[in-house]
Amino acid sequence: MDQSIKIIESMANGRFTYWNDAFLSDEHLELAEMARKFAQAEIAPHADSIDKEHKFPKEIIQQMGEMGFMGIMVPEKWGGSGLDTLSYVTVLEEISVACASTSVIMSVNNSLVCHPITEFGTNEVKEKYLKDLASGKKLGCYCLSEPASGSDAAGMKTTAVKKNGKWILNGVKNFITNGREAEVAVVYAIVDPAKKHKGIAGFVVDASTKGYSVGKVEDKLGINGSSTTQIILENVEVPESHMLGAEADGFKVAMNTLDGGRIGISAQAVGISRAVLEEAAVYSRERKAFNQEISQFGAIQGYLADIATQTDAARLLMRSAALKKDRKQRFSAEAAQAKLFASEACMAAAVKGIQILGGYGYIREYPMERHFRDAKITEIYEGTSEIQRLVIASQVLKGIES
Ligand code: CAA
Repeated sequence: MDQSIKIIESMANGRFTYWNDAFLSDEHLELAEMARKFAQAEIAPHADSIDKEHKFPKEIIQQMGEMGFMGIMVPEKWGGSGLDTLSYVTVLEEISVACASTSVIMSVNNSLVCHPITEFGTNEVKEKYLKDLASGKKLGCYCLSEPASGSDAAGMKTTAVKKNGKWILNGVKNFITNGREAEVAVVYAIVDPAKKHKGIAGFVVDASTKGYSVGKVEDKLGINGSSTTQIILENVEVPESHMLGAEADGFKVAMNTLDGGRIGISAQAVGISRAVLEEAAVYSRERKAFNQEISQFGAIQGYLADIATQTDAARLLMRSAALKKDRKQRFSAEAAQAKLFASEACMAAAVKGIQILGGYGYIREYPMERHFRDAKITEIYEGTSEIQRLVIASQVLKGIES
């Protein structure tokens, strides 16, 4: 048997048990157990082919919809599971351990699509789209970035002009996760350029509307099972009732949505780090050098200790941001801290993980190389590390009088 398969089987057999359950109730622990069993049995065995064949995991997403994982925080009356953010990140961590491509598909649908529709959508839009999105019957995408505006989100060029009681959208959106498969899009556009960020509105757009099309599909370093595309909007007609919140509130809707999304990406990063730790630890018990397990060497133990400690610290920041969100308090800085720390810890863990496996870490036969490629994006999407530092620093400086 080849060694990579043995490592995956060791994980599935529960040989690896290191995990921090701080802040979790009995219900959260049960949910974690259920998600872990599902992820290891139904997703992990396919993660390699999802990555290598750039295969969208359609059947897995359908199963996750049936299990209530595609709209975890959406109230039950709108087709969701009606659970808290702590439950969401607990499940997302387990899915991310198994497959980062699958977890980003899930996190975009939950955080960036279901959330703004739940919080800011009209009942008509909730009836029409939220029920299907939350139950996994439809998939959503979030269209904020453009070819010339990423970090400077308010610098967008897409326009929305009102005509005969409808909004007409024109523009190009870039780097859109789920872009190829999404049937529903949350789109931001400028309604009044003179008002800068206060002239941006958010809309729910049906992907079947005339003029809506999928442009370039990107070829990426990692998370290859999820699509990343351009979305092209050419005179797309959107009903007035599809606006998210008030006309002047689009930028705040976008930012509030990203706050929640950043907690989700921290969960993805924690999950990838845990996959790195599990594989590195199991490998270190199986691989021998100089007549002993490599786990007996201080250098390897040091790497494992660092990965475990940083993963735990990231998980605690992630859960603390989730708890603050659940308490309905402003959590922008906490979400930014969780994402910043978890994504940088994840990248550092992946570098050490490859080092522990040596040459076997560098070849495509072993999952470690995939984790290394998947880890990098967590430092970029839903706000780069530089943007997270900006958000955190602005909170720190706010408390000081000039
Ligand atoms: N919640 C609510 N309101 C917020 C907010 C938040 N988190 N952050 C800012 N605001 C409000 C401010 O209070 C301010 O309101 P007032 O005018 O009433 O005072 C207004 O928004 C403007 O705030 P700023 O002046 O701070 O705005 P800015 O233009 O300087 O930008 C930024 C701030 C933090 C840099 C922001 O642009 C940002 O987060 N950029 C990164 C964008 C990003 O994360 N993009 C990722 C793309 S999505 C993605 O990756 C999707 C995918 O498919 C995976």
